[in-house]
Amino acid sequence: MGGTTLHQSGDGYQAWLGFHRIAPGELYDQYAVYNRITVTEKDDIVRTAISELSRGIASILGNEPEVAESGVGVPCIAIGTFGSNPIVDRTFGNDTRSAVGPEGFAIKSDKDNRCIAIGASSGSGILYGVFHLLRLMSTGATIDKLDLVENPVNMLRMINQWDNIDGSIERGYAGKSIFYANNRITGDLERVRDYARLLASSGINAISINNVNVHKYESMLLTQEYLPDVAKFAAIFRSYGIKLFLSINYASPLEIGGLSTADPLDPAVREWWRGKAAEVYAAIPDFGGFLVKADSENRPGPFTYDRDHADGSNMLAEALKPYGGIVIWRCFVYNCKQDWRDRTTDRARAAYDHFKLLDGRFMDNVILQVKNGPMDFQVREPVSPLIGAMEATNQMIEFQITQEYTGQQRHLCYLIPQWKEVLDFETYAKGEGSSIKRIVDGSLYGNRFSGFAAVSNIGNDANWTGHLLAQANLYGYGRLAWNPELAAEGIAEEWIRQTFGGNEKLVRTILGMLMESWSIYESYTAPLGVGWMVNPDHHYGPNVDGYEYSKWGTYHFADCYGIGVDRTQASGTGYAAQYRGANYDRYESVESCPDELLLFFHHVPYAHVLHSGKTVIQHIYDTHFEGAERAEQLKAKWDSLTGSMDEGLHKQVASRLAEQAEHAKEWRDMINTYFYRKSGIADQLGRKIY
Ligand code: GCU
Repeated sequence: MGGTTLHQSGDGYQAWLGFHRIAPGELYDQYAVYNRITVTEKDDIVRTAISELSRGIASILGNEPEVAESGVGVPCIAIGTFGSNPIVDRTFGNDTRSAVGPEGFAIKSDKDNRCIAIGASSGSGILYGVFHLLRLMSTGATIDKLDLVENPVNMLRMINQWDNIDGSIERGYAGKSIFYANNRITGDLERVRDYARLLASSGINAISINNVNVHKYESMLLTQEYLPDVAKFAAIFRSYGIKLFLSINYASPLEIGGLSTADPLDPAVREWWRGKAAEVYAAIPDFGGFLVKADSENRPGPFTYDRDHADGSNMLAEALKPYGGIVIWRCFVYNCKQDWRDRTTDRARAAYDHFKLLDGRFMDNVILQVKNGPMDFQVREPVSPLIGAMEATNQMIEFQITQEYTGQQRHLCYLIPQWKEVLDFETYAKGEGSSIKRIVDGSLYGNRFSGFAAVSNIGNDANWTGHLLAQANLYGYGRLAWNPELAAEGIAEEWIRQTFGGNEKLVRTILGMLMESWSIYESYTAPLGVGWMVNPDHHYGPNVDGYEYSKWGTYHFADCYGIGVDRTQASGTGYAAQYRGANYDRYESVESCPDELLLFFHHVPYAHVLHSGKTVIQHIYDTHFEGAERAEQLKAKWDSLTGSMDEGLHKQVASRLAEQAEHAKEWRDMINTYFYRKSGIADQLGRKIY
């Protein structure tokens, strides 16, 4: 079953690459001139770029453009790396060429000669330039006065699949894996290619294709039985400028290697990994490297042998180094078996406590991948204090596109505004101007490797993401990784226009819905940064004391007097002291701690008055009533768009929004009732609490 045959109008498969036909008129006349592509190169990625450009233009204008080697004197789009196409070379001077980095591009319109040139220094740059031009055309922009240079801000712009080889996806909410089924690699390479298109068009350049929790079967991906098929995936991604990585099990030498130890300092183990690296690179010469979750949530790691994370990761880095490969080592390390009522073991502290003291000990082809917050992708948590705390270590940030704790793609939650807040956060790591985005783009400390990673939200559902509007998170992640300065609204608007067309009422309505969705979800779920009020294991739906690792007591410490976790230095777990200067002061003091994080840092009585002027308990009631009401309003907003888009697309979102509105009421009632019973304080407005 191929990707293209799967597609039916209204199923959402084309996502933002549907390229709507434009009606005859001024814009059509402006675009229609460019019905010839000139190109001289034939390498893999440039060929991809040509086919994408032809396909996009054919769809927008209704005519397939001609592709030719020369085009001097006739209107055309000329594409090529510098030095390969006379029109490109004539268009761009040395200044422009030197401003274009390895993956960047320049685009310039020459109105007199009716020509648009896209120049770059690599095939990937050409491909990104082509997608940029198509984005402009499919969002209705003028293209006859272009003069721009774009370079990606982040070197690594990576997607992490959490796909298991049996075809299931850990925290997947959009069907089964597109990569595997029944412990085999799937034959549906067309679908994988279509995924590569989506990723490259948003700017992604790296992917790890298996779950970070690697069990025995997934370890087999490193063996000759599977490597030839993994290489097929690598070839598809390569033609879209995307490097392939594999997650590995730290105990592979035991699991698949026949050794009796995985001790990183054991010579036989080092030799085994060197041999493995050689085998992998023989199959995939541009293989990216390994992604590793070790010593966390029952995964094996160097701790078993009394070694630390630097010993563990350096051993792998050494094996990959001769080939230019890298080790991405996750910092999501905590002891899930520890009784956390003991005030010295705060899970929020764990990543910093484990890694900070290892600064300077990692090889330069190791990157530490740090989750955006200290806990686990909650709807609200503070920024991880580990990011920026290790001057001499490569770091990248990890986001979660899949909505594990933010509605599981049954609820609408556009996450870009949340990620923007994280990226703009001032850490003071090197004084003022040390925002997270400057740490993860490598500029603050001049790191060799840095960037973004995120857990994918796709599966084999026809529309990729289950909830059609969740496509905006995948698209937006790529765009933000390319340029963290882009505005959340701007990204959303691009996505809406490309996905649904340019009807202004439609664009405004969906934009409004996306932009308020995070706040709506937050208001009917976990209040004031407390987090975790979900059902065990699957993490969907309200359960105030439910989270599986709460078995030693609740995560929110609510009793009949108050709620929240004291993470202050003065009287709590001391977590607040992991922040620097003004951030520490702000979080440590109950007076200055921002409302939205109050219960993350402080335990307060229900009658504590917030900066908003409301008491904590009244805030809980109000936000839960309002949140459920606002979820209901989302339905009405969507209904107002009936008739302004494909009926199939409209229907699928309408049914998700109906489910959300129902579940939001359940959240409202469970949370309000729980805290009413705990606190015994009535709602000031006398609303009915069930
Ligand atoms: C969360 C999630 C797990 C996942 C883990 C991780 O705890 O629930 O499914 O494995 O994060 O990031 O490794």
